[in-house]
Amino acid sequence: MTRGPGTAGDGTGEAGAASGVSGVSGVSGVSGVSETNETSETNESKATHGVGGTGPAGAGGRAPSSPPPPGAPSGRTGWRAATERALYGPGGFYHRPQGPAGHFRTSVHASPLYARAVATLLTRVDAALGHPAELALLDIGAGRGELLTGVLDALTTPGQRGAGERPGAGAGDLVARLRPCAVERAQRPAGLDPRVEWRDDLPAPSSLTGLLIANEWLDNVPVDVVEVDPDGVPRQVRVAPDGTEELGDPAPPADAAWLADWWPWPRTTESGLDAEPDHGWDAEPDSGLGAEPGSRAEVGAPRDAAWARAVRSLRAGLAVAVDYAHTRASRPPYGTLTGFRDGREVRPVPDGSCDLTAHVALDACAAAGARATRAGTPVLHTQRDALRALGLAGRRPPLARASTDPAGYLRALSLAGEAAELTDPAGLGDFRWLCQPVGPVAVADVLPLSLPLPLQLPIPPRDGSGPPRAS
Ligand SMILES: C[S@@+](CC[C@H](N)C(=O)[O-])C[C@H]1O[C@@H](n2cnc3c(N)ncnc32)[C@H](O)[C@@H]1O
Repeated sequence: MTRGPGTAGDGTGEAGAASGVSGVSGVSGVSGVSETNETSETNESKATHGVGGTGPAGAGGRAPSSPPPPGAPSGRTGWRAATERALYGPGGFYHRPQGPAGHFRTSVHASPLYARAVATLLTRVDAALGHPAELALLDIGAGRGELLTGVLDALTTPGQRGAGERPGAGAGDLVARLRPCAVERAQRPAGLDPRVEWRDDLPAPSSLTGLLIANEWLDNVPVDVVEVDPDGVPRQVRVAPDGTEELGDPAPPADAAWLADWWPWPRTTESGLDAEPDHGWDAEPDSGLGAEPGSRAEVGAPRDAAWARAVRSLRAGLAVAVDYAHTRASRPPYGTLTGFRDGREVRPVPDGSCDLTAHVALDACAAAGARATRAGTPVLHTQRDALRALGLAGRRPPLARASTDPAGYLRALSLAGEAAELTDPAGLGDFRWLCQPVGPVAVADVLPLSLPLPLQLPIPPRDGSGPPRAS
C-alpha cells in the first residue's frame, strides 16, 4: 500500500518521482479500539517506515519487549492470532465499508495505468498459452474489485493497452474468453461489473488457465513475531488488544525451523552490531543462539503456505505476487510490522482500528510456490522494471503539444506523473513482483527485461522449506 500523490517531472525526460508509496496483504478478522497511536508520518512509504523496522530503540525501532512476570495472566496472544481477529474477525478492519482505499493507496488506487499494465501482461500470457478457450484473471485479495474493473476497462477501451502492444492472432476475442474472478474475504461490492465472479475461497487446484495476480495481499496474511530476549533466546511476542507486548515462550519448533532457513539473525560483533551479514543462499541454517537481544523477525511460514495454495489453482499460466518485500540477504533486523489508518502510518494495535502489515519474505514464498507446482523458475523483479517491461514509460509529453493540443497535453502530463509514482524507486517502484510460471509460460517471454538482471531465485532441492544449504 501507499499513500502519496504523484507529481509530474521537471520537463525533461522521465516525469519526476511522485511521493509515496508502499503496500500490504493475508489469508484469512478483531474488534477493539485505539486512539492516539499515529506517528507523525503522513503520505509516507510503508516500505521504508515500518514502526519496528528501522533500528534499535532510540533510533526509530523498538525497545526489547519485557518478559512476563512469573505466573501473571496476560490475556495476550501471538501476533498471528491477534492480526487474524483484528483484520478479518467480526467488525474487523477489512470488513469495514470504506475498504482498503479508505485508509491507504495501493498501486491499483494510484493510477489506472497500473490496471492497463496488468491488461498488457494478460494479453501476453494469453498469447504464451495459445489463446485458451477460457482465460482466467484471478485477483487474490481483490479489495473492492478495483483492479479487475480497471483491467476490463483497459481491455475494452481502444488504445489503452501498454505502449506498442498489438493484439496477436486469436487475441481479438480475449474479453469474450475472459473469466475475471476475485478472491476476497470482504463482501462483493454493490455495483461491481456483473462479469466479475466474486468468491471467498480459492478455486480448485489446477482448475484455471491464465493470470493470477495478488497485489498487496501477502503482507496482510497474518504472521507471528519472534524477538530475541536478553539471554539471546528467540521468543514469541505476545500482544494485548491495546498493542502492548510481552515475550512468551521460546519460538515453537516449526517457527524456529522457518527462521533457521529464512531469517538469519543479526549478531553483535567486536566492531558492533552486524545487522547486514552475508547471508547467501548457501548459508547454514541459523539456530538463533547468540543473536542480538531485541532483534525481531516475522515468521513467514503462513504466507508461504498461502502462496503455494494460490499458485496451485493454476493448471497453466503465470502467478504474480506484488508486495513490499525483502529477501534472505536483506532481512530487516527489527522486522517491519506496522499499522495504517486514515492515510497515516500508526502504531500496530490489533483492535480492528487499523491495518496491520509486515513486508513479505518473497523468496521464501517463491520456494514454496515452486515446490507446490513443480513449476518453472520464479523470478523477482522490481515493480519499476516490471512496469517498464509492460510499456509504462513515464515520459513527459513534448512541450510543443501544449500549444497544439493543450487538453491532451495536460492529460498526458498527468499520466506521466502517475507513471512516475508507480515506478518511483524510492516508493512503489521498489515493490517486488514475484513471477511464478506454471506450465508453458516463461517469465522472460511475457516480461522481457534489459538490465538490471532479475534475481533468478534458486529452488530448494529438498522437500522441506528453505534455501539450499552448503553441503
Ligand atoms: C491491502 S488490501 C489490497 C487490495 C487490492 N489488491 C489492492 O491492491 O488495492 C488486501 C486485501 O486482501 C484481502 N485478503 C486478505 N486475506 C485474504 C484471503 N485469505 N482471501 C481473500 N482475500 C484476502 C483483504 O480483505 C484486503 O481486501
